[in-house]
Amino acid sequence: ATTLWIDTDTGSDDAVALVMAFMNPTVEIAGISVVMGNCSLEKALQNALYTREICGATHVPVYAGIGKALIRGPFDAVNVHGEDGMGDIGLPLSGRLPDEGHAVDKMIEVILSRPGEITLVTLGPLTNVAVALAREPRLAQAVKHCVIMGGIGDGPGNVTPASEFNIYADPDAARMVFQSGMPIVMCGWEVSCRYAVVEPADTDELKRVGGSLGAFCVDIQRFLVEFATKVSGLPGIDLPDPITMAIAIDPSIVVKSSEAFVEVVNADGPALGQTIVDRKLHAGKPVNATVVDVASRDWFMKMLIDAVTRPVG
Ligand code: BDR
Ligand code: CA
Repeated sequence: ATTLWIDTDTGSDDAVALVMAFMNPTVEIAGISVVMGNCSLEKALQNALYTREICGATHVPVYAGIGKALIRGPFDAVNVHGEDGMGDIGLPLSGRLPDEGHAVDKMIEVILSRPGEITLVTLGPLTNVAVALAREPRLAQAVKHCVIMGGIGDGPGNVTPASEFNIYADPDAARMVFQSGMPIVMCGWEVSCRYAVVEPADTDELKRVGGSLGAFCVDIQRFLVEFATKVSGLPGIDLPDPITMAIAIDPSIVVKSSEAFVEVVNADGPALGQTIVDRKLHAGKPVNATVVDVASRDWFMKMLIDAVTRPVG
């Protein structure tokens, strides 16, 4: 069994990653912390709470975290996920209440109470995690792994030529996390473009075998389809948070990875938000991350199909 703490800016692909965790009987979720990112903190919270409800997982605590980047102004992704973060398909995304307590306090409390047991998986900007580390540096040693959806290991970004959204939205926080000494596994955006693109035939299959949960996972990607096919030039929708979740749940899905020193650029300019992945250790700095190079698409698709075909509740 795998125990996870999930940090998420719940937009449409985060929601699929949550479904994969909620619906997997081998996964225990110790808690979920929400952060702003794809949309506002309030909307991300509603999206996480709604997803928890349709998966019949209301016993899993969901906490409100931080609503603003450490230093920089707001930067969202409504162009990729819709105004409500969930494709604007008319879901009833209001009125649900998060569990009591601040996400940062709870993340520290729960992970420190079970040292070496909990994999932290991050699906959004790293603001909550950076603040938790600033408050309690021992968190870095207490996590089993920190599996991060963020950055670029190889190739162009999705926000600027150099940067990926989760890092760009709070580069100062990301820099702190990569410097913290946490055992990091980095899943860059290109991994999803290569090994987690769900093509039209796959979305048909998800809907066919997955009933309402399969349809939910597909239908909320309405804006992502546009972005993925028109801007990213992919044959379907890339699912960065779900492939990262798959890696957190079952690291054997990773076919090839590199030990590297990853430096996050937080200085203004064209490289803002870049993750410089030093695989050859040119800079003479110690390794601070395992960077995913290749993952198994087949295994990923199987985990996704399994998640939507399990009975809810
Ligand atoms: C990341 O940014 C968001 O759009 C997605 O939810 C994912 O976490 C991809 O760059
Ligand atoms: Ca996300």
